[in-house]
Amino acid sequence: MGYIPGEVVEEVHSRFDIVEVISSYIDLRKTGKNYVGFCPFHSEKNPSFTVSPEKQIYYCFGCQNGGNLFSFIMQMENCSFPDAVRFLAQRSGINVDPFPASPAEQKARARREMLLQMYTRAQKYYQDLLWKTAGGKEALNYLLKRGLTNETILDFGLGYAPQSGGSLTGELRKSGLDLKLAVQGGLIREKSSRRFYDYFRGRLIFPIGDSSGRVIAFGGRIVGWGEPKYLNTPESPLFNKRRILYGLHSALPTVRRKKEALLVEGYLDVITLHQHGLKEAVAPLGTALTEDQLSLLRGRVERIYLVFDADTGGETAALRGLELFKNEGCQIRVARLPRGKDPADFVCAHGGEVFRQKVLLPAGSPTDYRLYLCKKRFNLKEKEGRISYWQAARKVIGALRGNLEREEYLKKIAGEINVSLEVLREDLENKIRSFSTQGKVTVLNNVKKSDISPRELVERELLSYLIRYPDYLQALRAQEVKADSFLTGPHREIARYLFDLEQGGYQINEAVLLSYFSGPEMQRLIMQMAVATDLVEEVRVQKAITDCLKKIKTLHWAAEREMLIKSLQDSEKIKEISATLKRISELKKWEEELYRSGEGEDLDV
Ligand code: CTP
Ligand code: MN
Repeated sequence: MGYIPGEVVEEVHSRFDIVEVISSYIDLRKTGKNYVGFCPFHSEKNPSFTVSPEKQIYYCFGCQNGGNLFSFIMQMENCSFPDAVRFLAQRSGINVDPFPASPAEQKARARREMLLQMYTRAQKYYQDLLWKTAGGKEALNYLLKRGLTNETILDFGLGYAPQSGGSLTGELRKSGLDLKLAVQGGLIREKSSRRFYDYFRGRLIFPIGDSSGRVIAFGGRIVGWGEPKYLNTPESPLFNKRRILYGLHSALPTVRRKKEALLVEGYLDVITLHQHGLKEAVAPLGTALTEDQLSLLRGRVERIYLVFDADTGGETAALRGLELFKNEGCQIRVARLPRGKDPADFVCAHGGEVFRQKVLLPAGSPTDYRLYLCKKRFNLKEKEGRISYWQAARKVIGALRGNLEREEYLKKIAGEINVSLEVLREDLENKIRSFSTQGKVTVLNNVKKSDISPRELVERELLSYLIRYPDYLQALRAQEVKADSFLTGPHREIARYLFDLEQGGYQINEAVLLSYFSGPEMQRLIMQMAVATDLVEEVRVQKAITDCLKKIKTLHWAAEREMLIKSLQDSEKIKEISATLKRISELKKWEEELYRSGEGEDLDV
């Protein structure tokens, strides 16, 4: 996405009041200086979503989501920063297009546009071949045999890539398109210099669209049997399979209306379900569900059904999905299909209504599903089987937080293995007690925090000050703090951009950063940083920055010391050892000096 000049962003920002904008999405109530409401990003019983008209920011005390006008729109409309600016600009009649972009950006954008055009063209071409050629006929028959109607096949734009290997290449060449670009886009391959051939050969073609429905990749399934069953477009400037949900564009209106989504595994599952009226179905692209895919649904749904194949692969995928959903606000339901069936088979055989009644309605909670997988492993007709089942189930139930919830499941198991509820409850409590004395429970609760290293934490803190108080960048430069002083990749990128902006005399704020880094992870990181500093008094900033720098230095030295100490065990030469020892004590001394020295030195703004 292109760069939007700070002035334009400012202009758009100044036309809107954050309270008014957010009120058009959720109900807000005034309390004191602020407004509160139910958070749109996670589900909650008490309103902890707070909007400050004075600072023009929002913050949720429940899920820590926070940001400004633009980040709110980005999340609600699921769009990039530039698109959020455009979205608001349109409402207020500001013309923001065309944005001036750097030559490199203009070139990259032109190439993306070109690739998009190629994909549109390739899609039409493959589609024609499906309906109009003899090879396509076989593929078409296969689809009809799988229960799809002509109308569905047309709706999803399915196509056929012939065996020959030169046909799409020929088509693109004929239209005078840049074949090298088509190679980068994964449509064709280059055999040797300037000799090209098709990427997809002898396959059914499933066009893969982004959330606005533009074709950005293909999935190619073998017709009938063969290996590999599927071949997907490789990663390209347009396509990152971890960020796409198949079918999302067609599903969105239904997903929005019902506030529900159905996650399945395959392309054919999505298509067949849509045909039978379950238009809220989407699928990840042959990989485990990712955080990015989840964020495509976040804020839009209250309930997600996982309907994975009834085989080991499907079960593992479902379990992994559950891990990912652990902290989501929405309700998760895991459906179970008859053994060996996938959602497409089932809905084809029984129809959409039966699918809702027999598959979706009985779908249970994640805990139900975990317990079902435990139970399946044992024979409950035998005593040993019942005991083993309980031991496995106990772990699942022990991980639950609420007593009431535990009690529900305990009752169910007590019935299944014919043991009194009291006995199970006592056994569980004993087990939990022995767990917590070993400190395991607390460790588990804190996993998230310990994922971040101390180094990452300080780096993040320092960057958040710099975004808010960019005047300090110059002082840091004077202290020889550079982008490379940041260890963590994304932090380094942000730092580099900050220094660049500062040196060029450009305006610095989170909006500028957000328009430069358009990936969702980077955007989230930047928003986190931008909100963090809001809680610090301005007079303390200088000391806080100095402290961050000290911490970074000491952590850096400590890491080197640790490495040297380890290396001592392997060195054999006395000379080496004494040099190492000298360096270790030097590092130690620097650290001591650093902490003895005064505060805030050399950091004049
Ligand atoms: N997949 C893949 N590569 C494979 C196999 C599967 O990328 N070699 C992905 C595809 O996205 C596929 C999904 O995993 O849609 C589910 O696989 P599967 O159930 O085997 O495929 P279906 O689409 O359900 O096709 P079918 O029912 O015809 O077997
Ligand atoms: Mn399948």
